[in-house]
Amino acid sequence: MNITIFSAKHYDRTFFDRTNTNDRHTLRYLEPRLNAETASLAEGADAVCAFVNDQLDEDTLRELAARGVKLILLRSAGFNHVDLAAATRQGLTVARVPAYSPHAVAEHTLALILTLNRQTHRAFNRVREHNFSLEGLIGFDLHQKTVGIIGTGTIGTAFASLLSGFGCRLLAYDPYPNDACKELGVDYVDLPTLLGASHIISLHCPLTPETHHLINAEALEQMRPGVMLINTSRGAIVDTRAVIQGLKNETIGYLGLDVYEEEEALFFEDQSEQIIHDDLFARLLTFPNVLITGHQGFFTREALSNIARITLANATAFESGQGTLHEVTLKRQSPA
Ligand code: NAI
Repeated sequence: MNITIFSAKHYDRTFFDRTNTNDRHTLRYLEPRLNAETASLAEGADAVCAFVNDQLDEDTLRELAARGVKLILLRSAGFNHVDLAAATRQGLTVARVPAYSPHAVAEHTLALILTLNRQTHRAFNRVREHNFSLEGLIGFDLHQKTVGIIGTGTIGTAFASLLSGFGCRLLAYDPYPNDACKELGVDYVDLPTLLGASHIISLHCPLTPETHHLINAEALEQMRPGVMLINTSRGAIVDTRAVIQGLKNETIGYLGLDVYEEEEALFFEDQSEQIIHDDLFARLLTFPNVLITGHQGFFTREALSNIARITLANATAFESGQGTLHEVTLKRQSPA
């Protein structure tokens, strides 16, 4: 199958080429993001492979279908960036990688928590300048703190498992509680209870119309003063303006983000020579208790290897009718 891979970085090429044994598929790597303007670059492809900030709206999908594309291969778990109704109208099949390494994201979430708490990023810089003062670096024990997990699917469950090892009390909110979490000692509660009781709140639910701006001014009012809020899920689950207010009035004591609601304009590129025009993002960067990473939760060797393997297996399954095609359809209620 001819597959055009958009938003391709050198690490994508490394892992896809390594996985595409015997050149089973013909892979063409393109740096541009996929959108209505770039869709014509897929001319001659049977399938396109897209990443999280590619724009798979009606215009893009219509253009792809007109160029003969039949299959959209998402190299992600999330599919909130795809207009599934439009894909159906255009006769396009959409497939994704439902789970590639929940540990990658769960462990990155933990890295954000530990860094924000013990301020190793600031300590690193101090020590390099021979400043061995501990002023301002005081942290807290995670042991016996209450951690609230919003969304206990594959990543939320892996995260719960890590935090149980620290001796934390674990609360969760999820419309579909799971037994694995219950066995770890997680207490399922309603959202207001979780918001009010947690020292640390971590988001692991998908972005849907219901979860858009789930963390808004009203939610912040219910939180413990000084709460640590972590979002490694999708940016728009958090209302950035409300969170900036929460940082200013010190409701939020720590903020860790791996995702940002307007990240399309920023993440995955070296912008170090550019002016940042997003004033909300620039404001976030001014707070000493905010730590932002550029959507790297998934970024481990194991995850990239699994993403390439499952994406190409989806292509093979579509082409040959053999194996499992991880198709995304409108019927599925809980996008990951
Ligand atoms: P999953 O589908 O296994 O789990 C999602 C869970 O959220 C389910 O248990 C579902 O019942 C629950 N949920 C749905 N609506 C909810 C609501 N309104 N409130 C609370 N819980 C709700 O998904 P998985 O694999 O655990 O991924 C979670 C999210 O992590 C993805 O949707 C994606 O946005 C994000 N992600 C981030 C990555 C990164 O690099 N930072 C990489 C991969 C995923």
